[in-house]
Amino acid sequence: MCGIIGYIGDRDAAPILLKGIEKLEYRGYDSWGLATILDKISIRKGIGKIGEGPSDPLELKGKAGIAHTRWATHGGITEENAHPHTSCKGEIAIVHNGIIENYQELRRLLSDEGHNFTSQTDSEVIAHLLERYYNKSKNIKNALLATIKKIKGTFAFLVIFHTDPNVIVGARKDAPLVVGVGEDEFFLASDVLPFIEYTDKVVFLDNLEIAIATKNLLKIFDFKGKEVKKSVTQVAWEVGDASKKEFAHYTLKEIYEQSSTIKNALYQDRMKLEDFCKAIKGAKKVFITAAGTSFHAGLLARYFFSKISKVYCEAILASEFGQIIDWIDEGTVVLAISQSGETADVLHATREAKEKGARILSIVNVMGSTLDRESDFSLYLNCGPEIGVAATKSFTAQLVLIYLLAFTAADKPVYVNKLKILDKCVESILKVEDKVIEIAEKYKDINDFFFIGRSTHYPIALEGALKLKELSYIHAEGMAAGELKHGTLALIDDRTPVVVLNPEDDTYHETLSNTLEMKARGAKIIGISNIDNEVYDDLILFPKVEELFYPIIEVIPLQMLAYHMAIGRGADVDRPRNLAKSVTVK
Ligand code: AGP
Repeated sequence: MCGIIGYIGDRDAAPILLKGIEKLEYRGYDSWGLATILDKISIRKGIGKIGEGPSDPLELKGKAGIAHTRWATHGGITEENAHPHTSCKGEIAIVHNGIIENYQELRRLLSDEGHNFTSQTDSEVIAHLLERYYNKSKNIKNALLATIKKIKGTFAFLVIFHTDPNVIVGARKDAPLVVGVGEDEFFLASDVLPFIEYTDKVVFLDNLEIAIATKNLLKIFDFKGKEVKKSVTQVAWEVGDASKKEFAHYTLKEIYEQSSTIKNALYQDRMKLEDFCKAIKGAKKVFITAAGTSFHAGLLARYFFSKISKVYCEAILASEFGQIIDWIDEGTVVLAISQSGETADVLHATREAKEKGARILSIVNVMGSTLDRESDFSLYLNCGPEIGVAATKSFTAQLVLIYLLAFTAADKPVYVNKLKILDKCVESILKVEDKVIEIAEKYKDINDFFFIGRSTHYPIALEGALKLKELSYIHAEGMAAGELKHGTLALIDDRTPVVVLNPEDDTYHETLSNTLEMKARGAKIIGISNIDNEVYDDLILFPKVEELFYPIIEVIPLQMLAYHMAIGRGADVDRPRNLAKSVTVK
């Protein structure tokens, strides 16, 4: 779950690398480091905020280098464990994203041979293995191929060699690596964000490929050393998309972007959309899989496909997918939903399903991501880069796309047209921020929150609770409103705030009864609805819209609530503790 970037070209590498890891920070932010090469390899590292450490990273000279932002897996958050890691004499430096599963065994072997380890990380073995093989062959490509043969696990890593300052190399297995192609320069990175301001031309490395770049030549090989011809893709994201603009945080900017991003999610290629629907409708079995927020979108997809498109399907957490693997066969369609397209649990699930003959359809935001490239068909969210660790605009874009699919599969063009005016409703719900701030101020010191809703509001209750947990570190539980009385009601007392998702639809009266049950036990009720009721202590009121669309509207005040509770408690909203945006480990 780390971010890596490398550069080779005519410019000074350090500023590009430093800015690059700042853009990759959403992938991990415990510690950082960079290495450049001039007559020797020089390194700067630090813990915490990128660029802050004992000495200035911009002092590093050289036109080639590598950099890393870390989310610790093996070894604590210390300067020694921050990447880059080097070989014994500091002649080879590496940065790595992934996990080397057999590192203990390799570390023992290399230590017995006299290699000296200076960190507790799994990654350091890569530097020493490269040293071992380079010393034998004096050939970078051969050393690289021998090294990847020896390591087990997942990796995308980049290497610079003291002996050849004009070369930078990379390898990928089950972790992303892309190459930005500039004029007489190359950028090798975890994704396009850190170099999109320099070039929009990209070569996507496939799994089990290595890249060897000088400033004007890029060669790609498979793990057997055979050259692979790759095409260059032009990617569409604007540089401006990845800046905070006038907002205090990316998360807030992304919440506000939703009035336009839900519109962008509707721009889909008609033929592709119909093929997608045909595959879903023609399948013997349909399973939806995803993690976290994307899974909550998957729960809604299950509901809409079953109810609107009359396609029965199941939604399975990607990390639990193995439990249903026996039911997957050639007649199965697996719909994977993922903002990043790099979530390890999701990739593992889809790969397993593919092996059993299933067709993989995906809904992703990041074009060219591993999931996108490994799927039979993909549809894109078109919501631009999402930098805040908490998913916001990608969630509502996922919902819009799910509606679009469900209505198209059900041949309900009237509803598709209604989706086109949803942005106006989103604009009006964004105006509730002042009310949300008032509520956040009132409840920010409470440590337990509940969110309840029935039917399509239940996944939104789960999502509201997840947002509050990850942004403000307040314990929160999302529940089906009808389930409270089966146990959780015991936790409700006169200090407990309960957020009730209760717009006027066929769930309204039953949810109201459940709310009264909690009110009778003293709970403080925060209503999210289009109609007022005396049961609410606080109310976030929004306009009446087409009933089916309430989930998209009501989640926005919940995102705002989590944001403002977090601000009130002094939490780091864009970079919540212990988390990373793309969870590339299982
Ligand atoms: C959401 O706010 C989280 N940060 C997280 O649950 C996320 O949705 C999950 O890790 C899945 O990510 P993906 O959509 O990129 O696959």
